[in-house]
Amino acid sequence: MLSEDDVARFHREGFLFFPDVFTPAEVAVLAEEAVGIFDHERKEIWREKSGAPRTAFAAHTYNEAFGLLGRHPRLIRPVEQVFGEPLYMHQFKINAKAAFDGDVWQWHQDYGTWLRDDGMPEPRAMNISVFLDEVMPINGPLMLIPRSHRHGTLAAGHDLETTSYPLWTLDKATVTRLVEEGGIVAPTGKPGGVLMFHGNLVHGSAGNITPYPRKIVYLTLNAVSNFIRTPTRPEWIAHRDFAPIVPVPDDALARYARMRRAAA
Ligand code: SIN
Ligand code: MN
Repeated sequence: MLSEDDVARFHREGFLFFPDVFTPAEVAVLAEEAVGIFDHERKEIWREKSGAPRTAFAAHTYNEAFGLLGRHPRLIRPVEQVFGEPLYMHQFKINAKAAFDGDVWQWHQDYGTWLRDDGMPEPRAMNISVFLDEVMPINGPLMLIPRSHRHGTLAAGHDLETTSYPLWTLDKATVTRLVEEGGIVAPTGKPGGVLMFHGNLVHGSAGNITPYPRKIVYLTLNAVSNFIRTPTRPEWIAHRDFAPIVPVPDDALARYARMRRAAA
């Protein structure tokens, strides 16, 4: 559960970071599974222009460990608390930010895409992410502009060229103005850290030219009443199953990790 202080900070700053939410054993099994997932060729896995893995969508639907993560109470409950209603999974992705080849994510607001491409009525969805590798200042950490969510949904251009993934991105003048006000932060830390941020919080990340991969898994949780009205993207990018998520027991992932270790 979030404290009153956490909730106030979330509304003020637009994000919360908790460095130690999942244990090394819980996160190790996820990191291992993620590597195996990226080894496959399937339509849900996008590659950088270089061919390196960029994003694996919808892994919670075909991988047991990520299925448990997608219903994990340590991720579902805090977001439920902020929105005050049950949630469904709007999107689920593992971003690889591969060693040497991980490409940029230009400055953007996620709700800009959810509104324009999916017909989501309000910014009552947000990302809650889990670090699968150590996120360092040098391996392309996610950068956030604190308090930028207070500006609502900003004008954006559809970038279909820079990277392999289409995104509604913000121009330099807008980013400069927001940064003058809020600065930039890049939460870093060990695998198992959790970062949640408002759908209108401006964020992006630089390329990764280090030998250290930076895998982060993002659950995009939407309030059930805020289901998407006019989707244009495939079902495995913007899900159409609006059934409320029923969380698994808190130890479900730890038990799965123990079982996998015993079987190895
Ligand atoms: C995103 O903004 O959706 C992903 C950015 C990142 O993983 O660096
Ligand atoms: Mn984003």
